[in-house]
Amino acid sequence: IADIKGGPEQGLDRLGQTLQLHGWVRTLRVQSTVTFIEVNDGSCLSNMQCVMSSDAQGYDQVESGSVATGASVWVQGIVVNSQGSKQKVELKVNKIVVVGKSDPSYPIQKKRVSREFLRTKAHLRPRTNTFGAVARVRNALAYATHKFFQDNGFVWVSSPIITASDCEGAGEQFCVTTLMPSSRDVVDSPVDGIPKTKDGLIDWSQDFFGKPAFLTVSGQLNAETYATALSDVYTFGPTFRAENSNTSRHLAEFWMIEPELAFADLDDDMACATAYLQYVVRYVLENCKEDMDFFNTWIEKGIIDRLSDVAQKEFVQLTYTNAIELLLRAKKKFEFPVKWGCDLQSEHERYITEEAFSGCPEIKAFYMRQNDDGNTVAAMDVLVPRVGELIGGSQREERLEYLEDRLEQLKLNKESYWWYLDLRRYGSVPHAGFGLGFERLVQFATGVENIRDAIPFPRTPGSAEF
Ligand code: 4AD
Ligand code: MG
Repeated sequence: IADIKGGPEQGLDRLGQTLQLHGWVRTLRVQSTVTFIEVNDGSCLSNMQCVMSSDAQGYDQVESGSVATGASVWVQGIVVNSQGSKQKVELKVNKIVVVGKSDPSYPIQKKRVSREFLRTKAHLRPRTNTFGAVARVRNALAYATHKFFQDNGFVWVSSPIITASDCEGAGEQFCVTTLMPSSRDVVDSPVDGIPKTKDGLIDWSQDFFGKPAFLTVSGQLNAETYATALSDVYTFGPTFRAENSNTSRHLAEFWMIEPELAFADLDDDMACATAYLQYVVRYVLENCKEDMDFFNTWIEKGIIDRLSDVAQKEFVQLTYTNAIELLLRAKKKFEFPVKWGCDLQSEHERYITEEAFSGCPEIKAFYMRQNDDGNTVAAMDVLVPRVGELIGGSQREERLEYLEDRLEQLKLNKESYWWYLDLRRYGSVPHAGFGLGFERLVQFATGVENIRDAIPFPRTPGSAEF
């Protein structure tokens, strides 16, 4: 017997055929002559309506209560035209087998449940409409990301998760340790609360087999080494930031996409960011129609129009100085005062993208190429409504002396960047790249307000359950 997948659309050209379906029961309605079972197999948003009369094989499981919300079932039936208005076809059940029963305590019953509540049930939330749709769109965005870069001749490079360098120089790294103190040879009973080993105090900062190591905040420096050999490359992997901030846009563990372009400047970088963003947005609009309609109705009204605009319209380009002027002219009172030289805060980004428009550069980071004014660097951010900063990128400092000066200025340890400096010693080239926070892209494309709902298992301060 052939399989039929969740959505009724897929049964349209298979009327009269006997097919089988595996899935989870969403709802059960027992009426006097027939029983309706909505089954979802996760392949799409819509359920397959299974209609069952009391003479079908396995009906006793309906009577005994085994066919309940949350249970997994195997259903065999004939594809027929549906009497109902919600779907065109349905499955007339010949036989049903409950594969795994569902305890009555199943927490996701039919009534709508809040997303806060569902965060405490991260192991079951993919079975809801919203999280099923987010997972599928996230998958489509990942696929489209690889497709875009592969089609454009970029090589995917795996950047390490454990590293000794701090790409952003912001000290937001998690330390890597070899062993937990409990499993080490702890000699002193830790009266003062600090475990000690035979060799004295544990030096956490040197604890990667005697060397310091951290979880990476960005794969950029590694991407640069490959870009200066293979030309255009990109990374796509998890990155970590130990920022103790509880916002709807920050995670301690997030995925980043970081293209790096050799023989390229900031304009090439911006062009790449624009083309990439338009491509992936168009991809989900074309390939995730059912899920996007769902978001448009239930999560963020008008999101389809907004994304269609992004896919077609030119991005507004705004210099840092112009952005500051714009903010200074704004009638609004900001919590963080604006002056030239300041870093843009979320409220400023929100004003620019939601009340003025979008797109603008910032200052910072040792690797950014110094502009001829000696005062600013060749950097850019892509800001979008609701999410704020989606992309941060720059042209990199390819000149050895400038880079050395910059490391000194920022009091960064030159020795530990020896290999990065080597790239400027041997065949240096102008190059540029950017980093896009994948969960922010998922937020932007689905309309989910909180970044915790854009990743299957969010890691935020104090929360690493599941
Ligand atoms: O602006 P950021 O810090 O830039 C870099 O890491 C560069 N090395 C990238 C590069 O040029 N290759 O981070 C890049 C993007 C941000 O624009 C944001 O979308 C995302 O990463 N991001 C976060 N997303 C979720 N949670 C966090 N804590 C994030 N921090 C940054
Ligand atoms: Mg940034």
